[in-house]
Amino acid sequence: MPKQILVAFETNAGSTQEVAGAIADTFSSGGTKVDVRRLSDISDVGGYDAAVIGAPMIIGWHRRAVKFIRRHQEHLKRIPVAYFMTALSLTDSGLHTVEGNEGISGIDIYRDPSLLKQPRNPDFLSFRERRSSLRAYLAPVLKKAPLVKPVSIGLFAGKLDYRKLKFPQMVFVMLLFAEKPRDYRDWDHIRGWATKLGPKLLTASQTFEE
Ligand SMILES: Cc1cc2nc3c(=O)[nH]c(=O)nc-3n(C[C@H](O)[C@H](O)[C@H](O)COP(=O)(O)O)c2cc1C
Repeated sequence: MPKQILVAFETNAGSTQEVAGAIADTFSSGGTKVDVRRLSDISDVGGYDAAVIGAPMIIGWHRRAVKFIRRHQEHLKRIPVAYFMTALSLTDSGLHTVEGNEGISGIDIYRDPSLLKQPRNPDFLSFRERRSSLRAYLAPVLKKAPLVKPVSIGLFAGKLDYRKLKFPQMVFVMLLFAEKPRDYRDWDHIRGWATKLGPKLLTASQTFEE
């Protein structure tokens, strides 16, 4: 049976769905069978040999993504899994891995260079800079779904379109990020990550089955 990869996404304003689509196209152009589905449309992940789960940072990684991974932990722990996150900012603390008591160290983490923001003072991060750190983004999902050990996590610059946000969301983003509304997505980085990830998911799935 040919292997089948699930690319599951959540989105608030639509742009992460397009990122999921680009990742899926990259896999399928290499001949792999891919299913792209919104998290809320998935009740069972049992039929997939590998999964990529992606969502935006919406005051933490989208809570539906974290809930989904937690709910499906028992199957996801048996197959190769990768996560991707879209966001507007990632504090460049110099740390490339998540160490400590989350139970995972040395995860392969891909950081889109256009997302990285240099802290004003690397020895003393501000509240805002700490909220956008690698640890702040990854620790909740790694803690809430500890059985799943992702083979890779990609963090990508997303898109900001105020017209697609609810009023309180707009105010939150304006106050916290003060970013210009525009499409920050870099498709070369997104496709580049997917190109390297595809074979890893498929080779790893043989190892998981043995
Ligand atoms: C309410 C809200 C909260 C957000 N929180 C964060 C955040 O904590 N960190 C960040 O870098 N980006 C944050 N963003 C920006 C989104 O992650 C980014 O715009 C993303 O590309 C949106 O994806 P979507 O179009 O799929 O919803 C937030 C956006 C909104 C609307």
